[in-house]
Amino acid sequence: MRRITTIIAAFLLAAALLQAQEQKIIPIETESTSLILVVRNNGEVQQLYYGSKVNASEFAAVPQRAGRYSSGFSAYPATGGRYQGEPALHLQYANGNHNTELYYSGLETRRRGDVTTTEIRLKDPVTSVEVSLFYDAYFKEDVILSHSVIRNGGKSPLRMLSYASGAISLRSDRYLLSHVHGGWAQEMQLENELLTHDTKVLESRRGTQNTQVGNPSFLLSLGTSELNEDSGDVVAGAFAWSGNYRISFERDPDDRLNIIAGINPFASAYPLAAGDSFTTPEMIWTFSSQGAGGASRNLHRWARNYGVYGGGNINPILLNSWEGAYFSFTTQTLINMIDDAASMGLEMFVLDDGWFGNEYPRNRDNAGLGDWQVNVTKLPEGMDYIASYAHSKGLKFGIWIEPEMVNPNSVLAHTHPDWVVQSPGREQYQVRNQWVLDLSNPAVQDFVYGIFDDVMKLSPAIDYVKWDCNRPVESFGSPYLGTDQDRFYVEYCQGFYKVMERIRAKYPDVLVQCCSSGGGRVDYGALSYFNEVWTSDDTDGYERVLMQYGTSLIYPACVMAAHVSAVPNHQSRNVTPLKFRFDVACQGRLGLELQPKLLEESELALVNRCVESYKTYRDVVFTGDLYRLGTPYGNDFYGMMYVSPDKRKAVVYTYCLRFNALGGEGHSFKLKGLDPARRYKVTEQNVNRSCWWGNGRSFTGAFLESGAFNPSLPSLYSSAVFVLEAE
Ligand code: GLA
Repeated sequence: MRRITTIIAAFLLAAALLQAQEQKIIPIETESTSLILVVRNNGEVQQLYYGSKVNASEFAAVPQRAGRYSSGFSAYPATGGRYQGEPALHLQYANGNHNTELYYSGLETRRRGDVTTTEIRLKDPVTSVEVSLFYDAYFKEDVILSHSVIRNGGKSPLRMLSYASGAISLRSDRYLLSHVHGGWAQEMQLENELLTHDTKVLESRRGTQNTQVGNPSFLLSLGTSELNEDSGDVVAGAFAWSGNYRISFERDPDDRLNIIAGINPFASAYPLAAGDSFTTPEMIWTFSSQGAGGASRNLHRWARNYGVYGGGNINPILLNSWEGAYFSFTTQTLINMIDDAASMGLEMFVLDDGWFGNEYPRNRDNAGLGDWQVNVTKLPEGMDYIASYAHSKGLKFGIWIEPEMVNPNSVLAHTHPDWVVQSPGREQYQVRNQWVLDLSNPAVQDFVYGIFDDVMKLSPAIDYVKWDCNRPVESFGSPYLGTDQDRFYVEYCQGFYKVMERIRAKYPDVLVQCCSSGGGRVDYGALSYFNEVWTSDDTDGYERVLMQYGTSLIYPACVMAAHVSAVPNHQSRNVTPLKFRFDVACQGRLGLELQPKLLEESELALVNRCVESYKTYRDVVFTGDLYRLGTPYGNDFYGMMYVSPDKRKAVVYTYCLRFNALGGEGHSFKLKGLDPARRYKVTEQNVNRSCWWGNGRSFTGAFLESGAFNPSLPSLYSSAVFVLEAE
């Protein structure tokens, strides 16, 4: 009897193992990472693992272990059945029912160069809803993009109450979430928090300017309470969407952390007619076992190679007219600034706000938006005269527009009141004296595209457009959408992208900057059309160290426009040395934003020197790997560096951010990312006398990484920039 029991038990075990082995594993792999999905025997597709590269086939034997509260984490959890957590998909059907259960119905993989696309098809047998999950694995960059296509295969319309772009589940004893928050002139401030049980949400409901107060991105450090720059497991994510976003982190009763990222369903119960489908935007994921630095570098490489329009190209050093002239200029003012820009060695002049509007001239921010004709009083010679003059001086020429907006004081507001975002019978609130145009309306999309197209026709010498967007949406509503207001937020953003598609089809080579009162639209959705972002209206050197650090966590230096402006700083009133301002701005795409006439001789000499020096190493800024030497938060000294992909050239930036009497003796920085065996010649930039004893000599990478590199930074806002060249 006992023997029979043993045989039966052995048989059952073998059957169970066999069953386990029969589970279909779907590996999504990059050079160093694996995302492992499994098709359970009942057809459910679950996620088993995301992390460092593993042998996927071993996961086939992992039995389905029912958690105490749920049955494992679905690859795309839908509201309904046994699932009670945050949904990636939540549908409501015509009969009022909320239940969806998705089961595997097919798999396809395709390869395009280094990118492998896995499409997993799911279906709800009861409602005939079909979902395709797409995973694009970027092999060399260790980045995985996810999005879904949701199709109403049923016979009646439904409403999508949640429709995320992707879900990832992690397992650790500790989850440290790092994300940014901020506001105008103070974007990208880092916050770290250990996640407790229940749900933490990063989201925006602003309609436009969605990244002014937060960002659809995060770093998640596993098994630690501290953000570690160089080691430890970190998952990072960034959502490629310029509209309302929502990223939720649910630490479930089984202690898993389930991350769901997508369009914010707030006021957006999107309708899906029978037979229609909806494609969600991309969610970008990466994993690194080399800390926050490793995760940032993965994202930066992906961004330069795939994610940013013209990513990795070197963009020109410019003079922007805004803080130097504001709204008060004539043709002569601009000609003088162009002359000055040329003599300072700059490469482009950008005419900012104030050049347009005749019936309602743009002399202040209370008039003219919407009327994009050259103001004949200020600029009677026209735009081509100025743009061609810039070209004759060897400079490129750029111009500012804010095409999504309208001032009530404008011809446009009077001729097309129905093009303004509004809620019937309610006050149309103004921000900066302006309203938002309704980009969900195709007629408005045509108009906004036409603004860009017409501005380009002002002169063949226009090389660059600064596209601004200076307010969020309030009293949201579209006269065009009638009773279909649930479409508004989604179709505003889609409308914005449709306009950008047309612009890029016609103007592939024009440089376009994405500005939104500074960093109000810094996301990978916009960056697929834009060359760079205006990081912040705050150009205070000290503030910029923090904001550029925050930006660098997710976005590469090639998109980060950084300008040197006058002191006291127009936003913070802070006074920092000119050299410090340069040494900070040279971390990104360098520019100047001041009236050159107000610079003294000695300052002009320094400007020339810094500009010339930047030109010799900016290739490393635009294409190199970033290594942060610590954090500017809570530290008196901070440094960061870029290293060329072949490790032959590097640039190192060091700063004193708070006075420390020991700084004069030298603060030790451990450089990173160098080739330990190679010798590098170290040359400090922009000074006659170096603040490091080793300047001008050559050292091995190992020595420079040992902490022996210790420039003297004796006073508040001391700074030093070094170029390292392999021998
Ligand atoms: C916004 C931008 C600034 C400048 C002004 C012009 O604030 O962020 O850089 O272009 O608009 O009005």
